Amino acid sequence: MKNYLNVALPKGRLGEKVYYMFEKAGFPCPAIKENNRKLIFENPEVEVRYFWVKPSDVAIYVERGAADVGVAGKDILLEYSPDVYELLDLKIGKCDMAVAAKADFKDDRSRTLNVATKFTNIAKSYYAAQGRDIDIIHLNGSIEIAPILGLSDVIVDIVETGTTLKENNLIVVEKFQPISARLIANKANFKFKSEQIEKIRRSLFEQTENI
Ligand code: PRP
Repeated sequence: MKNYLNVALPKGRLGEKVYYMFEKAGFPCPAIKENNRKLIFENPEVEVRYFWVKPSDVAIYVERGAADVGVAGKDILLEYSPDVYELLDLKIGKCDMAVAAKADFKDDRSRTLNVATKFTNIAKSYYAAQGRDIDIIHLNGSIEIAPILGLSDVIVDIVETGTTLKENNLIVVEKFQPISARLIANKANFKFKSEQIEKIRRSLFEQTENI
């Protein structure tokens, strides 16, 4: 019986970078580089199985043990607080969680602030810490449109290059949480596969030292 290590990779450019880091760590899987629509790849020689999942779903696979390890953004970990081990900051996929608004925005603290966001829990705890009354408007994407159309006063969203804000005439009010990709592991599976997982963690740590 094979003792495969199951790895959930976030689909997209970040995931490809992460795969190459795992390859360097001694877990290659050449089939993954073929350009097709397959989602699961395995290499029996080194007993590894990779699967591509939506970046925001990685933590779910890991929390429930369908994946032993995975790579998820700190934004997702803060928002959903999955019950997983956070083993390492990979120092890639860097961006910030920020409050943004129209350039003429003035905060009137006597009234409730309307906040549009995908990150409801992050926004709630940020404003709770300031004792600020807010109403959350939960959106699934294109958050930047909300203040332009008067749907909200501000947004809480990820800023990477700042291009999306700029092209929609919004400005950063405050960057309050640095984000980057994290190596996470399922708590129970970590015990059974600690040798493989430790090997990966050590190698990835060495690789991030050079970033
Ligand atoms: C994210 C985020 C911003 C944008 C920031 O959106 O929600 O809209 O990237 O990047 P920038 O600062 O480099 O412009 P994503 O591409 O995930 O799409 P979404 O609208 O579905 O959230």
